[in-house]
Amino acid sequence: MGEGLLSGRAAAGQRGSGLASPTELLFGDAGLVRRGGGLYLDGVSLTDIAREVGTPAYVYNAEAIRGRYRSLDGALASLPHRICFAVKANSNLAILRILKDLGAGVDIVSAGEMARALAAGFAPEQIVFSGVGKTADELRSAVRTGVGHLNVESREELELVGSIAEAEAVQVRVGIRVNPDVTTDTHPYISTGKSGIKFGVPTDQVIPAAEYILGHPRLELTTLAMHLGSQLVDTEPFRQGIGRLIDLVEGLRRAGITTLRVLDIGGGLGIRYTDERSMEPAEFAKAVVPLLAPTALKVYLEPGRFLVGSAGVLLTRVLYRKHSGGKEFVVVDAGMNDLVRPSHYQAYHEIVELEERGRPSGRADVVGPVCETGDFLALDRTLPGLEAGDALAVLGAGAYGFVMASNYNSRPRPPEVIVEGAKWWVAREREKVEDLFATEKLSP
Ligand code: LLP
Repeated sequence: MGEGLLSGRAAAGQRGSGLASPTELLFGDAGLVRRGGGLYLDGVSLTDIAREVGTPAYVYNAEAIRGRYRSLDGALASLPHRICFAVKANSNLAILRILKDLGAGVDIVSAGEMARALAAGFAPEQIVFSGVGKTADELRSAVRTGVGHLNVESREELELVGSIAEAEAVQVRVGIRVNPDVTTDTHPYISTGKSGIKFGVPTDQVIPAAEYILGHPRLELTTLAMHLGSQLVDTEPFRQGIGRLIDLVEGLRRAGITTLRVLDIGGGLGIRYTDERSMEPAEFAKAVVPLLAPTALKVYLEPGRFLVGSAGVLLTRVLYRKHSGGKEFVVVDAGMNDLVRPSHYQAYHEIVELEERGRPSGRADVVGPVCETGDFLALDRTLPGLEAGDALAVLGAGAYGFVMASNYNSRPRPPEVIVEGAKWWVAREREKVEDLFATEKLSP
């Protein structure tokens, strides 16, 4: 199986000579540095963390997250805007708190994420509730909480929101998530703005939905929204999608609907996993600001990966080396249950030694302990010579890492550690085996 479907490896080699190497760029985005052969995240030795909390473990660099937020916020400074962090990318409360303290809002997709956002200190007004399958209970709870707005994705959901608003006798701010039918160059599992997939309201159903909202005494249409897909490194789909939203804004204005205040252009800004292009805030702003500014609407973004992806690593340790069928295997203690992206999307994650030992390199598969052949972190990868006990960092693991971890094979989920300058702390303890079956019963 080839690697790199998600990594845009076709774009490799686009960097001119004289620019930093891929590893230097990856290190820079994360705040990783080599010092005396050891690997440091900001001011902290990852070898120390691996020794003290054990492996596997997720480690996030708080300052790297702040840097990412500020770069995007700064690039959009000329527009009235709000950056709503997509909680699904990393829902650790401490990460949410870091983003809240920077002035971010949040984009949530479940009652669970709403509870996390509130626990991290977000005001209800700062919450956007997205998602294609919200239950009646979730909608009711969001209405009672008073979230900023609800992005609805179907006529049936809209009517349910209408009946809940009536029953609760409160005004509810609604956005319509549009399916703008835009093609994106990303993995098909995470391309979400094309016609024929489950997301969003097709453009021809938007005006009728808006008229329903207008005619409903308890609903107010404040927002048109889209989310095109994830790990997008090209601005063109954003330009197309925004163009379609703006056509709809004009259509709504012609139909006498003047309540719109927000254009929510979703998330999806791609990051660098290896040597592909990434979405740079200045380039993104240059493409979208001229389209958005004339609308005089407030712009919401819902980035997840862009803010936290580069800032996290997964620490793991080599258990065994083996040679089989003419191939080299490095068996490590992190598996697909800890980081599913390589096996689920054939995603590429760079893997580096915590301590450089200078052994000659060779090609190997880096595989986990889970009982599936699809349990790998890297295939046919050139790596320095490794031995049992060596610790490794899997880079770019801050988004869709821990949040997609499972207990498959009854493996407790790893801890999450935050590095803050020269200090670090455990923001989530390693799960205990007894937690895994604490709610199970042996008999009726
Ligand atoms: N807004 C909505 C409505 C979304 O569905 C998503 C992601 C985002 C925002 C944030 O997208 P981002 O900025 O992080 O690209 N598990 C996959 C990614 C799934 C993305 C799902 N939706 C992965 O590991 O690549």
